[in-house]
Amino acid sequence: MGKVNVESFFSDNSKAAFKNDPPGAWMPKLPDGCIRLSSGYPDPELVPAEEIKAAVARLLDEEHDLPLHYLGSPRITKLKQQILNRLAERGIIVSEEQLLITSGACQAIDLIARILLDEQTVVAVESPTYMEALEIFQNYTKQIISIPMDDQGIQTTLLKEMLDERKRKGLALPRFLYTIPTYQNPTGTTMSTERRQHLLKLSSEFDFLILEDDAYGELSFDEIPPPIKSFDECGRVLHVGSLSKVVAPGMRIGWIAGDHAFIKASEWFKKDLDHPFSQSTMAVYLENTHFEKRLLLLKELYRAKCAALIGAMEQYLPAPVSWLAPAGGYFVWVRIPGVDTSDLLPQALIEGVSYVPGKYFFLNQSDGTEFLRLSFSYADEEEIIDGIQKLGKLITPFFNGLPDRDMKDTNAPAP
Ligand SMILES: Cc1ncc(COP(=O)(O)O)c(C=O)c1O
Repeated sequence: MGKVNVESFFSDNSKAAFKNDPPGAWMPKLPDGCIRLSSGYPDPELVPAEEIKAAVARLLDEEHDLPLHYLGSPRITKLKQQILNRLAERGIIVSEEQLLITSGACQAIDLIARILLDEQTVVAVESPTYMEALEIFQNYTKQIISIPMDDQGIQTTLLKEMLDERKRKGLALPRFLYTIPTYQNPTGTTMSTERRQHLLKLSSEFDFLILEDDAYGELSFDEIPPPIKSFDECGRVLHVGSLSKVVAPGMRIGWIAGDHAFIKASEWFKKDLDHPFSQSTMAVYLENTHFEKRLLLLKELYRAKCAALIGAMEQYLPAPVSWLAPAGGYFVWVRIPGVDTSDLLPQALIEGVSYVPGKYFFLNQSDGTEFLRLSFSYADEEEIIDGIQKLGKLITPFFNGLPDRDMKDTNAPAP
């Protein structure tokens, strides 16, 4: 008997999805000792391993086998309350029925896509956008449209023009728009409050939902802008959050805050594909942590690392290279005019520094060839400076003969 061709059993939807780039194609294979300016991971020093170890011990001492059963411990309900309280502090007032805890923000995005998208459903995204969200949407639909951004976030006037035109031509309107309004991945930009309100108005005028991904929303260097959900009186915003960037990504704790009917639909598909033990551990960790104090520490450290990155870029990168200085989050978006950053990456890895080439954040990859995303979250300050020096050595020969950077023109973040 011959070996079965398992692939012939795949559903048409799966076969269509497998025609896309494989997940993680953007992640460079890193040589040993490589400085990771590609990784959107928290600083290893800030991952509270000892506190989580203590939380596990305390949980099992107090509750024995309970957190290890399917239903988990009563602390899961407590975690919900803790998250509701944090959301309320940011102006998002929702009830327990309007909140679903998920295995990270990624599961939340996947559930939303699964519930809302068919193969021909239109979804709108920012251009550029978070590459894993693009991967998820492409698993479900072929109809993705992208809306350009500038330093104020998504260009809502262009969005309106695009929607008007689609309406005029009788084309389908998006069922939802995916946005990361605060400290966006990859650009680090923050959508202005006017645009947040304009976007919400457009969602009502053209009848679509908004998927607000707030993964970095609490990591401000300065003031935190109000989430779009905090203006939402009609239940149009599905607000997705995560503890990955402020506590630990391996705990896989995220959520959706939205209309009750939507949360019920999400529970339907989520079933028990989340982690009760991790959720109850997180509840104990949060019980014993002064979270505001922790946030202050994170913000201070990431602000300093961002300043180190930008300072090094001013010093070591040739003048035509430009970037956007973020007001929070993990990333700086860099443009190297005329240089294909994918072609440059193998040499950068040999030199010992990594980044993510810009093309992976675009639906139309050719729009992103001159860009790259640098992360200041994972590497320490010394590595960041060393990494930028290495990049400078690689990039400078492209611009030999051009004048040096005028220090007054650089766009450093507020101290
Ligand atoms: C914008 C954005 N959303 C969601 C996630 C994933 O979050 P989680 O670890 O909670 O799945 C990330 C992680 O890089 C992200 O950058």
